[in-house]
Amino acid sequence: MSGIDRIMTLSPVIPVLVVHDLAHARPIAEALVAGGLRVLEVTLRTPIALDVIAEMAKVEGAVVGAGTVLNEADLDASIKAGAGFIVSPGLTDALGKAAIARNIPFLPGIANAGDIMRGLELGFNRFKFFPAEASGGIKALQALAAPFGAARFCPTGGIDQMRAPEWLALPAVRCIGGSWLVPPGTPDVIEIRNRAADAAALRKH
Ligand code: 3PG
Repeated sequence: MSGIDRIMTLSPVIPVLVVHDLAHARPIAEALVAGGLRVLEVTLRTPIALDVIAEMAKVEGAVVGAGTVLNEADLDASIKAGAGFIVSPGLTDALGKAAIARNIPFLPGIANAGDIMRGLELGFNRFKFFPAEASGGIKALQALAAPFGAARFCPTGGIDQMRAPEWLALPAVRCIGGSWLVPPGTPDVIEIRNRAADAAALRKH
């Protein structure tokens, strides 16, 4: 099992996190892990994201990665901050090759057959299907998965607790991602833990 495959099987849902205040990092990560979600994707969409990765990586049990990684510079900064895996919304050859060279688990984004073929050529067969609902939803992923038997996916984008079971029922889906676990604003840790527990209960691996 590859590094990214192991991470994708740790829990059924990967919370996609946009954290604006460094003081929120630890409480959010602790609440998610307490609820049963260990794999956390911190998006590089806020100026403090790298510090958030470093802070969350200190939480026992958390497997913290960087999301919204767009290029080699983002990749290296994320690894330096302590990211244990890397997620990107799309795939470029340069980023894919850099991830292989750094030997870091990498989940590249794909939205069509050409993206998947480029990923396979680079040696990847685990992908983020993004943006999942806007790219055609379940029907689109089923159609895409058919010709690529070895590929497995983490659909993300527009999915919530209600929609999650349908996605997780697909054989080609290893896990799903989503931002619904942590509502914006000051974290309500009880609410986050409850949402995480509901998500963690969706499917046992
Ligand atoms: C991502 O970067 O993966 C998405 O922004 C998450 O999508 P969602 O907010 O619709 O869950």
